[in-house]
Amino acid sequence: MSTLVTGISELVTHHPELGSLTDAALVHADGLVRWVGRAADAPPADTRVDLGGRAVVPGFVDSHAHLVFAGDRSAEFAARMAGQAYDGGGIASTVAATRAASDDDLRALLAARVAEMRAQGTTTVEIKSGYGLTVDDERRALRLAGEVTSETTFLGAHVVPAGAARDAYVRLVAGEMLAACAPYARWIDVFCEPASPHAFDADEARTVLEAGRAAGLGLRVHGNQLAAGPGVGLAVELGAASVDHCTHLSDADVDALAVGDTVATLLPGVEFSTRSPYPDARRLLDAGATVALATDCNPGTCFSSSMPLMIALAVREMGMTPAEALWAATAGAARALRRSDIGVIAPGMHADLTVLDAPSHLHLAYRPGVPIARALECSGA
Ligand code: NIG
Ligand code: FE
Repeated sequence: MSTLVTGISELVTHHPELGSLTDAALVHADGLVRWVGRAADAPPADTRVDLGGRAVVPGFVDSHAHLVFAGDRSAEFAARMAGQAYDGGGIASTVAATRAASDDDLRALLAARVAEMRAQGTTTVEIKSGYGLTVDDERRALRLAGEVTSETTFLGAHVVPAGAARDAYVRLVAGEMLAACAPYARWIDVFCEPASPHAFDADEARTVLEAGRAAGLGLRVHGNQLAAGPGVGLAVELGAASVDHCTHLSDADVDALAVGDTVATLLPGVEFSTRSPYPDARRLLDAGATVALATDCNPGTCFSSSMPLMIALAVREMGMTPAEALWAATAGAARALRRSDIGVIAPGMHADLTVLDAPSHLHLAYRPGVPIARALECSGA
């Protein structure tokens, strides 16, 4: 069953030859894009959808989110707005609430968060564990995440849990916990941040990442969020797919990101919600690094599921053009997940399409906070 989509005022494909088209149309069938071009040249199809002059962009790829959690940290947010600094210590309260929640409670919370994302144009989401921090609770988080996405990430090395000895916990994460979680995870991630007393230093992070790689997982790193440090260098050295945050970078970090194939994933909702200086996207782009944008949706540093907000912040606060920010939120984030089947609209790619109640992609940054983006249902239709 094929569907012809017409009435597309602007079609942003991110495909090197197709570029952006006006007065465009596309055909999709069985979940894949089959044809893209000018409306006047459109081939016949079994059914037809007229978007009435709206823009279509690749579905947003949210390559960094922590959605399996219970509890509420709005009071911590209010304290931060009153001047208290973020250091990761609040993660412990989410861990306690998450351990206490039933599978069904967590499943319902997760489903609501994924639906919220989809309603704002996100078609792929990566979901991390990291609020269980025991063998059983981490494996449970990944099992539940795997019910809604194939992009599951084991983050047992989020923080050292209360009452645990640091070296014993690193051994547990790299040993028994990894063995239990690897069957449910595609990726492994570490919060490598020596500036936080709760997170992990370079040696600890290396131990966990090397064990994850030996278990067949791809590598991701939370790095350089609170201060300059070893996260970026380690991620590039180990060939991680992505290093995320990148808020405080040395010249050597920027150079490493420019030559390596590790994507720099920027999470501007974190700087917004922790009232911190934004990462310097311009410096990374001008150096030739690949930049992605993601929400980091989590209860501590950014409880926003909105990729359009991240695009607007990247444009308004980080010196990215609207086109660069949209690319980073789609094709760039697909690279951060090492995916070549999403983030671009072209024949053979997944028909993951986002429609804007607007004539062009410029409105994503031009109309901040306005719900103009939604995912178009194309799967199998
Ligand atoms: O990506 N930086 C570490 N982890 C999360 C925050 C987790 C939390 O505070 O609950 C982040 O910002
Ligand atoms: Fe995160």
